Amino acid sequence: MTAPILSLRNVNKSFGPIDVLHDINIDLRAGEVLCLLGDNGAGKSTVIRLLSGVHKPSSGEILMDGKPVTFASPRDASEHGIATVHQFGGTFPLMSIGRSFFVGVEPTKGWGPFKVYDRKKANAIAVKAVREFGITRIEDGDRLVGGLSGGERQSLAIARAVHFGARVLILDEPTAALGVKQATHVLRIVNEAKRRGLAVIFITHQVMHAMAVGDHFAVLIRGAVAADFKKGEKTREEITDLMAGGASMASLEAEIEGYMASHDGHPPPVAAH
Ligand SMILES: Nc1ncnc2c1ncn2[C@@H]1O[C@H](COP(=O)(O)OP(=O)(O)OP(=O)(O)O)[C@@H](O)[C@H]1O
Ligand SMILES: [Mg+2]
Repeated sequence: MTAPILSLRNVNKSFGPIDVLHDINIDLRAGEVLCLLGDNGAGKSTVIRLLSGVHKPSSGEILMDGKPVTFASPRDASEHGIATVHQFGGTFPLMSIGRSFFVGVEPTKGWGPFKVYDRKKANAIAVKAVREFGITRIEDGDRLVGGLSGGERQSLAIARAVHFGARVLILDEPTAALGVKQATHVLRIVNEAKRRGLAVIFITHQVMHAMAVGDHFAVLIRGAVAADFKKGEKTREEITDLMAGGASMASLEAEIEGYMASHDGHPPPVAAH
């Protein structure tokens, strides 16, 4: 088997006295969607920040294609082919679709014609790239990004990453603020990116979204990998419990139902702190 595109080896991360990540080991392969799961504060975004060059590990290594790498900055990570799409697509609301597609793409990286911004050409390329991902409602590259729906913005950001040759696509809760239809569309696009051979890291709190696209799952509990498993190895209930930090949601539900049955259908009061 070929070396994973990206690996974390015994990675620790502390901020001053606060240990956030403990001995993280994760492998990511091309054509695979890794779902990074865990409760609030488990350390998911911190893992992403290490992989996208925002922070550096306190100890341990990041490997690409089996070789150690260090990312000096987010730009450095992106030049290594790691594209991170944040919750609102990382785009600029007052920019046109065409403009935002080419933001930050240096002419020295083979984009000679864009030294002088060619609006028509930029629009045509951006619209084509987005339409290839099935967003056929977008026809006009002059439209402002701020006027797109959340799902369309996510899709634009993903299409952009793929167009510019990203090998690893990182999505931190891309479907969190989306309705069912838009979320479904983003999940389709994740599948399309995978089909094109990208490796994808997908963070979500929604078990159904994770199960719909995930090939491989890593669950963080208090900064450590508590479980690492492949599609089909765990049930939805087991994944839900792990995401809740190991608490059994099923027994919590049973407890609440039991209480309601003995209290005339009233739910238990919330304990005062
Ligand atoms: N720069 C920092 N300095 C100190 N502590 C930090 C810093 N960044 C993150 N943390 C802490 O690390 C822990 C993990 O945070 P992180 O944002 O990675 O969680 P998360 O899994 O992404 O949570 P959520 O699901 O809520 O987004 C939290 O307790 C957070 O307070
Ligand atoms: Mg987070």
